[in-house]
Amino acid sequence: ARLKKAHSIEDLRAAARRTLPRMVFDYADGGAQSESTMRQNRAAFERHRLLSRAPVDVSGRSMATTLFGKPLAMPLIIGPTGYASAFWPRGDLALAGGAAKAGIPFVVSNGANSPLPDIARAAEGKAWLQVYIAHDKQVTLDLIRDAKALGFDTLEVTVDTALPGRRVRDIRNGFTVPYSWTAGKVLDVLRHPDWMLRALPHGAPRPGLMPMEQGRSWATVSEFVRSQINPAIGWDDLKWLRDRWDGTLIVKGLLDPAQVKPAVEAGYDGIVISNHGGRQLDGAVSTLDLLPEFAAAAQGRIALLLDSGVRTGTDIVKAVALGASAVQVGRATLYGLSVAGQAGVDHALGIFRTELDMAMALVGLRSLEEASPDIIRIRQD
Ligand code: FNR
Repeated sequence: ARLKKAHSIEDLRAAARRTLPRMVFDYADGGAQSESTMRQNRAAFERHRLLSRAPVDVSGRSMATTLFGKPLAMPLIIGPTGYASAFWPRGDLALAGGAAKAGIPFVVSNGANSPLPDIARAAEGKAWLQVYIAHDKQVTLDLIRDAKALGFDTLEVTVDTALPGRRVRDIRNGFTVPYSWTAGKVLDVLRHPDWMLRALPHGAPRPGLMPMEQGRSWATVSEFVRSQINPAIGWDDLKWLRDRWDGTLIVKGLLDPAQVKPAVEAGYDGIVISNHGGRQLDGAVSTLDLLPEFAAAAQGRIALLLDSGVRTGTDIVKAVALGASAVQVGRATLYGLSVAGQAGVDHALGIFRTELDMAMALVGLRSLEEASPDIIRIRQD
């Protein structure tokens, strides 16, 4: 019933806000510090306007595309989001299943809660894996070896998390891994009985792919991330990873167009231009504003993906027009997941599909290859 009333990702966000305890909703919805980057991500998509090339015969249009030699039903990927079981029991499996059904990749987070073989099965072999380079590199090597054995062919290594961003909402709410309880948090949960009845029988989510030492419990999410990720990572380490992964390799979290050259030289296949949805460096530039500079630096030598703020089908057209091969989403599908599990993920992806088809028809695009910077105007104000 909740899904029937949700006609946009914004509607799904409102429904997620009603169903989730405040501390869980804020974990997904919030950004770092003043959240100015998070707001700018949306502002950039608003500032970029589309023009219509009508009249064009768009009766035979298609949003299908190819990426790294594989077909994608649309240029959308469900990006990696850790701790997804907080939103729905076995949330990683629901995200994976939704992506498989929609014919798009799902990126398993290094902070996923479910066992990798289960996620791989739910994704029907189409999942990618995101990793952070751990303090102990053997931990990372073991994980990618498991992934390889399960048939994973694409790896994303995230580099924008030298330290976890300062997420003020999580600090204020006392959001911990696993949950810890105060009177306020118990009340928060009691006010959201749907979530309580769904989530409590499954216990608190545990990091499934990261080693969690005894005695590390009750850490804030930020302390936990800090314990897992090595802040000393540079291009030497990314080259080290390249030498140990013979599949497709993508670096996630670049914001500086000057990093395109080293990425190409290190033999990387793709880049996700990302400010982590405004959850890391507050004050960071929005990704859509950077895309033309990345496209100019890449000259087609490396695939460009983009995330941070994608909420509509027109956002996808704008990113593709400016040079992205596809976009990733984090929160959009998490809102759907929170409302109705995989049905909610399916619903969110259905909204994107409908909106993207509509945008292509009304802009006058038969295929996304026809999208170019010519269809973009930047509103000055
Ligand atoms: C994330 N993101 C993320 N990225 C990553 O590389 N590894 C991870 O484990 C996580 N975890 C995570 C959890 C949650 C709850 C969110 C919302 C995000 C970042 C994510 O992949 C992506 O970069 C942003 O979410 C993109 O911005 P939007 O689409 O949420 O605006």
